[in-house]
Amino acid sequence: MEFKSDNASGVPHVMFEAMVRANEGAVTAYGDDPWTKQVEKKFSEIFERDVVVSIVSTGTAANSLGLALYSPPWGGVVCHHESHIMVDECAAPEFYSGGVKLIGVEGEQGKMTPESVNDALYYMAKGDQHSIQPSVLSLTQITEAGTVYSLEEIRALSDVAASRDLKMHMDGARFGNALMALGCSPADMTWKSGIDVLSFGATKGGALAAEAVILFDAKKADELMYRRKRGGHLLSKSRFAAAQLMAYLDDDLWLKCAAHANAMAARLAQGISQSNKLRHAFDVDANMQFIIMTIAVHEWLQSAGAHYYLWPGRGPRGTGAKRDDEVISRFVCGFATTQEEVDEFVAVVGLLG
Ligand SMILES: Cc1ncc(COP(=O)(O)O)c(C=O)c1O
Repeated sequence: MEFKSDNASGVPHVMFEAMVRANEGAVTAYGDDPWTKQVEKKFSEIFERDVVVSIVSTGTAANSLGLALYSPPWGGVVCHHESHIMVDECAAPEFYSGGVKLIGVEGEQGKMTPESVNDALYYMAKGDQHSIQPSVLSLTQITEAGTVYSLEEIRALSDVAASRDLKMHMDGARFGNALMALGCSPADMTWKSGIDVLSFGATKGGALAAEAVILFDAKKADELMYRRKRGGHLLSKSRFAAAQLMAYLDDDLWLKCAAHANAMAARLAQGISQSNKLRHAFDVDANMQFIIMTIAVHEWLQSAGAHYYLWPGRGPRGTGAKRDDEVISRFVCGFATTQEEVDEFVAVVGLLG
């Protein structure tokens, strides 16, 4: 019963097979190969406009490069205080940008609101030489709490960003899961809602170290090229990352994988909601959920063979805050999660009475 992470799984066979096919012969290195060119075209089709695509190997690099493009060292990136860029990237965004300040904003369900963003910006004055110059508003979709911003919520944040002359960044480590949850198009969830730069996550969906920075405006294309190389993320054998991304995007495999992960998570959530020994900390909108339980229940589930993470830090804010004798745990479903392991876990929970 594997629920630790959508990173815990391997790679879908078709994606591995695509890499094996790309292994034939020699091609020009550093992205000047047919696979990389094809991926760039494919992303433009998916987003219904010309986009700039820069393949990198980690989500941290995608976020940090994307943010650095629009943030000078004296800039400020407004983000949720529990966002990945804030707490899980070892100050890489600050490093890549040469010193940008991340400004953490509180918010229920892992989400920022226009009010919380405006509050955070209150003391930062554009043009004041003493002040950080706010540069980017960064949101995570799906959020670190497992919830999903609606299009209206994204657009309300974009309006605030536009009114303060900030660029909008989306950390889309689980972009496909969010799309499947909202049932909208990639264009709707990004540039049509004011997003300027996207970290397109593929690793959690199934890829082997392949992510992409997507720009909806080509003005920064050259700068991204230099920054990627300088940041150590220009892959000489780009064809292998590109071949798997092509296989991932072709025939909507990425969307099928995400839909499956979300369906497994919904099944798990439904089973858990039947128990009075476990409860959800946040809404379950996509493939990740946080569950509160007593330490005794946690120990029992571990001994029954359930794998999940205990979530460190302060625990959930707002909805369903935990007691001292309780733990908060994170369960994530992925493309490889089976209905059998979900049902087995729900049956184990059922034994708790
Ligand atoms: C919200 C979010 N953003 C970005 C990442 C990318 O991280 P990595 O650098 O490990 O690929 C992750 C991975 O856990 C994540 O959960």
